Amino acid sequence: MAVERTCLAIVLAAGEGTRMRSMRPKVLHAIAGQSLLAHVLDAVSKAGGTKTAVVVGLGADAVAAEAKRVLPDAEIFVQAERRGTAHAVLAAKAAIARAPDDVLVIFGDTPLIRPQTLTRIRGALAEGAALVVLGFRPKDPAGYGRLVLKGGELVAIREELDASPAERAIALCNGGLMAFAGPTALAILERISNDNRKGEYYLTDAIAIARAMGGKAVVIETEEEDVRGINTNAQLADTAAVLQQRLRNAAMDAGVTLIAPETVFLSSDTKFGREVVVEPFVVFGPGVTVEDNAVIRSFSHLDRAHVGKGALVGPYARLRPGARLQDDVHVGNFVEIKEALIETGAKANHLSYIGDATVGAGANVGAGTITCNYDGVAKHRTEIGKNAFIGSNSALVAPVKIGDGAYVGSGSVITQDVPADALALGRGRQAIKEGWARRLRERVLPSKKRTPAK
Ligand code: UD1
Ligand code: MG
Repeated sequence: MAVERTCLAIVLAAGEGTRMRSMRPKVLHAIAGQSLLAHVLDAVSKAGGTKTAVVVGLGADAVAAEAKRVLPDAEIFVQAERRGTAHAVLAAKAAIARAPDDVLVIFGDTPLIRPQTLTRIRGALAEGAALVVLGFRPKDPAGYGRLVLKGGELVAIREELDASPAERAIALCNGGLMAFAGPTALAILERISNDNRKGEYYLTDAIAIARAMGGKAVVIETEEEDVRGINTNAQLADTAAVLQQRLRNAAMDAGVTLIAPETVFLSSDTKFGREVVVEPFVVFGPGVTVEDNAVIRSFSHLDRAHVGKGALVGPYARLRPGARLQDDVHVGNFVEIKEALIETGAKANHLSYIGDATVGAGANVGAGTITCNYDGVAKHRTEIGKNAFIGSNSALVAPVKIGDGAYVGSGSVITQDVPADALALGRGRQAIKEGWARRLRERVLPSKKRTPAK
């Protein structure tokens, strides 16, 4: 069984992404809430890659750091000069020399690669292939290496620049992913030369070499989406769209109701419980969990937030990092919540900012309530007790505590702690001047000629 074999996955991430006109290394661009590199590394770890090597360019500390963040035990190798894909693989020579059973080579800019595709490739190695190439039939083959078959056997990969017109007409192309039987991998790789029009060490030359050494080269075919590479911003967007479609389908397969799936944007790590409903036009940033029976209504934006069972969020709600809604919480329109625990059954239904706060179970936060958490220098906490009632348009100036069951009168500016079950008022006292309006009219209006209403 393939899964029992040891595996080294080498992820090539030394690309610069210059065609994206960005200072950021290509593999750090993100789709569905995580970097291209993270997508690839996720697929690798799900496929049971026992060891992972990431090849980065010189000075690409951010790429190395991202690799370590996703897979702390990934080994980083530096390719000091970009001299071709085989040269990049050999940067990880020390890892290959430890003789794993399988050596997978994966490009860091093909984020849609699925774990099951990696598993299929490993299966072919387990059956005795010296080398496995992942082939596909692209709509537009321009730029891809062509797979040259003879009598059903893979004999070579011809890079487009070096291909004859007949070879260019071949529809089956190299998806870029290759795998080597560990024991012969180094011997093959070290024989690759840079004798071609680009003067690069082409990984694809491995096929002819493996065959010359008596090994068998095998093609595994997959669909284009699996191996979509990213070189431009347009390709980044196209790839993101494919991934969104996958994520939406997976969510619906798991029982989530997406009323207009094409308008809902998910992250790869978005987690849903049962019977969740997501209305049209909702964005899930990374790190969001939504539990059973919750409803996320239209135009809401959630990012690193937790939504408890039966909670109701939106329309137009914004849950920022650290928003933790327990069961049956209601968060309504134009309410922003950041770094705050909203306990069971509490409600903030309209026009509020709740940041760096705890809102106790059953509390009601009235329309327009603001936690004033920032004094221009530091952030401070607001604690609202259980079943407290915060009247509309109140400003709670942190640090401040509102006790359990306390009331805050509407329009208050609260700067001192409020004891449990007390009423706090912090607003100008209302004055009544009987007859004042009538007297004004009597005094002022007769002297003015009023134009009759039309
Ligand atoms: C490569 C294949 C081609 C295949 C295509 C699929 C070779 C020679 N060609 O072409 O057959 O159809 O991918 O997308 O392998 N890299 C390094 N260091 C280098 C060169 C490349 O790390 O010195 C990395 C790149 O960052 C990238 C990957 O290797 O992730 C592929 O390199 P790229 O230049 O994009 O190869 P292609 O011309 O697309
Ligand atoms: Mg490429």
